[in-house]
Amino acid sequence: MSSNKPNMTPENASPQYIPGSAGGENEKKPGVRISSGNRADNSTPGSKILGEPIMEVRGLNLSYSGKQALKNINIAFLKNRITALIGPSGCGKSTLLRCLNRMNDLVDGVEITGETLFGGRNIYQPFIHVSELRKTVGMVFQKSNPFPKSIFENVAYGPRIHGVKNQSDLGGLVERSLKAAALWEEVRDRLHDSALGLSGGQQQRLCIARALAVEPEVLLMDEPCSALDPIATAKIEDLMGDLKDKYTIIIVTHNMQQAARVSDFTGFMLMGELVEFGVTTKLFQNPDDKRTIDYITGRFG
Ligand SMILES: Nc1ncnc2c1ncn2[C@@H]1O[C@H](COP(=O)(O)OP(=O)(O)OP(=O)(O)O)[C@@H](O)[C@H]1O
Ligand SMILES: [Mg+2]
Repeated sequence: MSSNKPNMTPENASPQYIPGSAGGENEKKPGVRISSGNRADNSTPGSKILGEPIMEVRGLNLSYSGKQALKNINIAFLKNRITALIGPSGCGKSTLLRCLNRMNDLVDGVEITGETLFGGRNIYQPFIHVSELRKTVGMVFQKSNPFPKSIFENVAYGPRIHGVKNQSDLGGLVERSLKAAALWEEVRDRLHDSALGLSGGQQQRLCIARALAVEPEVLLMDEPCSALDPIATAKIEDLMGDLKDKYTIIIVTHNMQQAARVSDFTGFMLMGELVEFGVTTKLFQNPDDKRTIDYITGRFG
């Protein structure tokens, strides 16, 4: 069931909404349009092309055992950009994130309608190989969860499962992934020590290295810094900035300063709805919806 209230659809969207054809001269151009927050742009919805979507969600509804958790979500995630999802506890951020690599398939009693597209293809079609999808759309969780194995084996695990057998290929992949996760210098002399001996921040970067080792295109991060101190958090935030040259990142965070610091786009969710979505600076400095204003000014949530 979708809510009675109209949600962001291509038809009714204010300029912060993205999808395909906004008419006029832009109609033929590929890519997603989104408000830049510039008033002149707002008078011409969709006039600004800011990038290409790698993933899109259209009319997505999700219920857990009949209880609706996502209501008619429409959102597009741009390639090589960081998108943050914010909103109060229980509003559906993690649920939406998990839809993007079908992690909700593992939950009993879940019902999903609508479309979730990766590269234009609906990932919920029966022929989609879920393990391949999760390789391409990787995930880093709130609590770092290294395997009780060596640092090397943690990173080599995914590539091994996906068929990389040659030890020197694996060694190269492990090194590249640890470098990409900004952890190499700290662990290069202890690759065969247990991963459980690393600090919390190092463990989280190891989990990022593990996700990168299978060469994903999209990285989903669900509150990746919530268990970390400010220094470890700053390292992960810097890392995200570096990673976006190569990957698309979608991050759920409770920390609005973090969303403002790291993301290009932000979506504000409330009670299963995507209330507002747009360029991060615009959403924080000049939001359109009163509920967004109330949330970012700390009036609720
Ligand atoms: N596995 C599940 N089974 C049943 N209900 C669930 C399940 N996971 C989430 N829910 C419910 O769906 C709604 C959205 O939950 P979700 O975890 O997506 O929220 P969230 O925005 O990530 O919250 P938080 O900020 O606290 O992590 C909540 O009402 C939650 O109780
Ligand atoms: Mg959550």
